[in-house]
Amino acid sequence: MNILFYAKGLDTESWLTAIRSALPDSDTQLWSEQLEESWQADYALLWHPPVELFATQNSLKAIFNLGAGVDALLRLPGRPSEVPIIKLRNAGMDPWMFDYILYGVLHFGRNFDRYRQQQQQQLWQPHPSTAPNVRCIGILGLGALGQTIAQRFSQLGYRVQGWSRGPKCIEGVDTYSGLDYLDDFLGRCDVVVNLLPATAQTFHLLNADRLAQLRHDAVLINAGRGTTVDPDALNDALALGRLRGALLDVFHTEPLPANHPLWARQNVIITPHIAAPTLIKDALEQITADIQSLEQGLFVPRVDSTLGY
Ligand code: GLV
Repeated sequence: MNILFYAKGLDTESWLTAIRSALPDSDTQLWSEQLEESWQADYALLWHPPVELFATQNSLKAIFNLGAGVDALLRLPGRPSEVPIIKLRNAGMDPWMFDYILYGVLHFGRNFDRYRQQQQQQLWQPHPSTAPNVRCIGILGLGALGQTIAQRFSQLGYRVQGWSRGPKCIEGVDTYSGLDYLDDFLGRCDVVVNLLPATAQTFHLLNADRLAQLRHDAVLINAGRGTTVDPDALNDALALGRLRGALLDVFHTEPLPANHPLWARQNVIITPHIAAPTLIKDALEQITADIQSLEQGLFVPRVDSTLGY
C-alpha cells in the first residue's frame, strides 16, 4: 500500500517516522514535485496541500484531512471530487480544546481581565462573579468535539446548551437546532463558544444582528473558524461594550493582519490558532483503524462536501 503525506506547518520528519512505524508494510512518501509520476498513492494524509499535488495522483482511495476542519481542502481547485475525504473526528483534541475554552470561561467569569488592569494601577477592588452552576455556556456546533466539550462542562456543573444545524440529543445539555432557534439560544448564553465548521451556511452567522442578541456581559470564544463571525460587527460590539470580551483563536485571514483593530482591544485575547493541535499518535490511531476498515469494505464516516463538514 502506498501512502502520500504532505502537511504544511506540521513537523514533517516526525510525521513520516510515525506513519512508517504505524504502517510498516506500506511505502510512505512525502509529496514533492520530484515524486515520480509512476508512484501512485492509495491514501493521502494531507493538511493544506498545494494544488499541484492532485495533478499526478490518479489512484487515491481516500484522502485523510489532518485536522478537524476540512474547509481548506474542500476549497482546493483540482481536488478529485470523487475521492472520499475523511477528517479527524476528535482524535485526542478534546482535552486541549476543553482546556482552551475553560481558560476563557475562567478568565472573564472570575474577572481576571479586570484584575489584570487593576494591578497596573495597584487597585484593590473585588468584583462579584457568578457561580459556575449559574453561568451558561453555549456551544455552537455539536460535532465530535462540540458534543464532548459540552458534556465536559456539564459534568463540571456548568449550565450548558448547544446549538447545531440538525437536532442532537446530549445528556445534561439543552440542545437547540435550526436558524429559527439561534437568537433564543444566543440570548441565554453567558459564554458563546463557536466550534462550527466554515461552510457557506456558517459564513458570518454571527453578524451584527445576532451579536446584538447576546447578553450585555456575554463573552465570545471562537475556536472554530474565523469566517463564522463578521469581524467588523464583532469589533463594533466590543468597542461599544455590547460584549464583555472575546477569546479568539481563529480569523478570516491568518495571521491576523498587523493593522487589524482587534489586536489593540483591551477586552480581547488573541491566540495564533493553537486551541487544539493535531496530535500525531492519536491522529494515526484513527487513520490506521480507518484504513483497515476501508480495506475491509467497512463503513467509515466521510465528509459530506455539499454540507462542508
Ligand atoms: C484545526 O484548525 C483543525 O481543523 O483541526
